[in-house]
Amino acid sequence: MSINDFKPEVWTSSSNGALKVSLVTENAVTFSPQFTYPIYGDSEQIFGYKDLTIHLVFDAITLKPFVNVKYSQKLDEDADDIEAKLLEFLPKDDIIIKDEAKWISAFEKERIEYALPPDKFKISEYKIENDEYVVYKVPLGNEQTKKMHLRIQILSLLYIEAASYIEADDPNWEIVWSFNKNTKECAGYVTTYRYWKYKGGKNFDENDNLKYRGKISQFLVLPPYQGKGHGSKIYSAIYNNWLTDSTIAELTVEDPNESFDDLRDRCDLTTLYESGVFESIPEAFPIDETWIDETQQKFKVEKRQFNRLVEMMMLKTEH
Ligand code: ACO
Repeated sequence: MSINDFKPEVWTSSSNGALKVSLVTENAVTFSPQFTYPIYGDSEQIFGYKDLTIHLVFDAITLKPFVNVKYSQKLDEDADDIEAKLLEFLPKDDIIIKDEAKWISAFEKERIEYALPPDKFKISEYKIENDEYVVYKVPLGNEQTKKMHLRIQILSLLYIEAASYIEADDPNWEIVWSFNKNTKECAGYVTTYRYWKYKGGKNFDENDNLKYRGKISQFLVLPPYQGKGHGSKIYSAIYNNWLTDSTIAELTVEDPNESFDDLRDRCDLTTLYESGVFESIPEAFPIDETWIDETQQKFKVEKRQFNRLVEMMMLKTEH
C-alpha cells in the first residue's frame, strides 16, 4: 500500500458515476442514472472500492435484468455491500448476477416465446424517424406486464425524483407501455391509477355511473428515446384514452417535474387549440366561471391545470 491508499477519497466513488445502466439488443446503449440516493443513501457515495463500475443491464425486449459489479481493489472490512443494496430493488428470483452467458441464454430463450401485449390493450400507434411504435395500457394484474414492470421499475427510482415502488397487487394500477412495433423494444412506460372521485352527496346518490380520476404517477421515456417526441405521443395516447372513457372524469398528474409540466402544457394547449377553445374564450373579464367549469369538465383537465392553460391561451390570443 502507498501513502495515498490511506486517504478516504481514494476509496470513495460517486454512486451516480459508478452505476451504468444499459439496454442491450445487437448493441448496448449505456447511460448514467440521475439519482441513486434511494439505493446508496443521500450522499450518493460508495466507500471501499477503487475503479468501481456497477453494471445494471436489461435485455431491451424482455427487460431481463443482469448485474455485474467490477472494481480493481476492495477494502475487505469496511467496503459497502453494493451488490446487496442494489439487489433489494430488483426481482429476486429473476435477476442474473455476474454470469453473462447465463443471462444471454436466459433472455434468448425468453425471446422465442415473447410477444407484445394482445390488441385489446392497444390504445394508440405513432411513428418517429421511420420507426413505428404501439402504445398499450395493460392492467398490472396481467402476468407479462407484472413481470416486466418488476424488472424495470428500478428505473423510476433512478430517473424520477422522489419516486417509490407502487403496490404490485393493487388492481387499480395500469401500466402504459410504448414498444417498437417491429423490434419489440421498449421505449418507455407510465404507471397510471384509477381513483374514485367523490362528486358530492347529491351526485353520488343520483348517479350510478361512478366517476374516476385517472392519475399519471410515474412517467418515464427510456434515456436513449428522450427528446424525440415519445413523451408527447405517450401522454396524448393516455389523455385521449381517458377522454373517451365515460367512467373517467378528470386526468391528474402526481408531482410533475418541470420537464413533465412543459410536455403536458404543450400537449394540452395543442388539444385545446385544435378543438377551437382558443377562439371561444369569453371576452369579458373576469372570465365567466360557468365557461371555465364546463370547458374544464368537457376536456377532463383538472382545475389548477386548466387555469394555467387559460392564462397561456389569453397571452396567445392577446386578451
Ligand atoms: N426532434 C427534436 N426535438 C424534439 C423532437 C424531435 N423530433 N420531438 C420533441 N422534441 C423536443 C420537444 O420540443 C421538447 O423540447 P423542450 O424540452 O425544449 O420542451 C423535448 O424534445 C421533450 O419532448 P418529448 O421528446 O416529447 O419528451 P420526452 O420523450 O423526452 O419525454 C420526459 C419527456 C417524460 C420528461 C422524459 O424526458 C423522461 O422520461 N425524463 C426522465 C424522467 C422524468 O423526468 N419523468 C417525468 C417525471 S414527472 C412524473 O413522472 C409525473
